[in-house]
Amino acid sequence: MKAIVFDTFGGTEVLHEVDTEIPQPGPGQVRVRVRAVGVNPVDGKIRSGTMEAVFPTPLPAVPGGEIAGIVDALGQGVDRLKVGDEVLGWSDTGAYAQYALAGADHLALKPAGLAWTHAVALPVAGDGADRALDLLDVKAGETVLIHGASGALGTIAVQLAVARGARVLGTAGPANQEYMTSLGATALVYGDNLVERVRALAPNGVDAVLDAAGKGALEDSITLRGGTDRIVTTADFRARELGIVFSEGPQRRSAARLAELARQATEGALVTTVGATHPLSDAAKAQQASDAGHSRGKLVLTVD
Ligand SMILES: NC(=O)c1ccc[n+]([C@@H]2O[C@H](COP(=O)([O-])OP(=O)(O)OC[C@H]3O[C@@H](n4cnc5c(N)ncnc54)[C@H](OP(=O)(O)O)[C@@H]3O)[C@@H](O)[C@H]2O)c1
Repeated sequence: MKAIVFDTFGGTEVLHEVDTEIPQPGPGQVRVRVRAVGVNPVDGKIRSGTMEAVFPTPLPAVPGGEIAGIVDALGQGVDRLKVGDEVLGWSDTGAYAQYALAGADHLALKPAGLAWTHAVALPVAGDGADRALDLLDVKAGETVLIHGASGALGTIAVQLAVARGARVLGTAGPANQEYMTSLGATALVYGDNLVERVRALAPNGVDAVLDAAGKGALEDSITLRGGTDRIVTTADFRARELGIVFSEGPQRRSAARLAELARQATEGALVTTVGATHPLSDAAKAQQASDAGHSRGKLVLTVD
């Protein structure tokens, strides 16, 4: 099978395509014939070596952990899925490949009306958004500030916070202001004088802050909250030194919750946004776009 591999840490030039063995599912696993792969910022952080201190990666490695595709083989003891099922979820082996292994409990059935490219926008962003909003304990009637609200995670987090009954102020780049509004947020451009601009929109203050950008907005967030309480970041590694909660694993990887999000996306109740699609062979281009961090929604690799 074709897979994308890196043998050394570095820029996107370390990614290259190889022919390799099709993996065999172990107990509790299934093999998925991959149709779409989610390209996440963490893929680039792992490739560059930035994550080595906290999450060592043996090399060579196939990047990626988010797939949508067709169940192709069952490992021992798997009875909740069958060959031919269309699924979305988290992969155990690298996702940037024609076939990947996944725990059967980490996959949800894909509704027929949901495109592969949109299905794969849900697992990582849905889980990350749920986890962060739970940590913040966002409730109806509250005002939540979300930094990086136009990204893959932010897109889902805005909508799930609105669904909880919260008012959302979302920061994004100038090109994504209308997009923010369409998702149900009050839009702000990130950058200078953010504290004053948020205070003008929310004179009674913000009840919680989710930083889904990791671009230096934690100090402003502390000013707006009057302390570190109810601020969570998914992205800023300075969190601990500032006394802020970093939302990290263990990922819940709930197939039941993922199925519910997929149902909502199919019915149009949850908007999934695909920033761009690239063929698997263009994985380096996709990671360049991901590293740049302005892709509006999920970057996706398609696999024939
Ligand atoms: N801990 C977890 O559970 C978890 C889960 C998923 C993701 N993450 C992390 O969360 C972060 C977001 O992930 P993602 O997939 O949503 O990334 P993404 O799709 O690349 O989104 C990046 C967001 O950051 C904004 N941004 C870019 N430059 C900015 C700047 N200078 N100032 C403020 N905002 C800026 C972008 O806005 P514009 O495009 O409008 O410019 C966009 O909204 C990443 O660091 C990722 O690794 C963590």
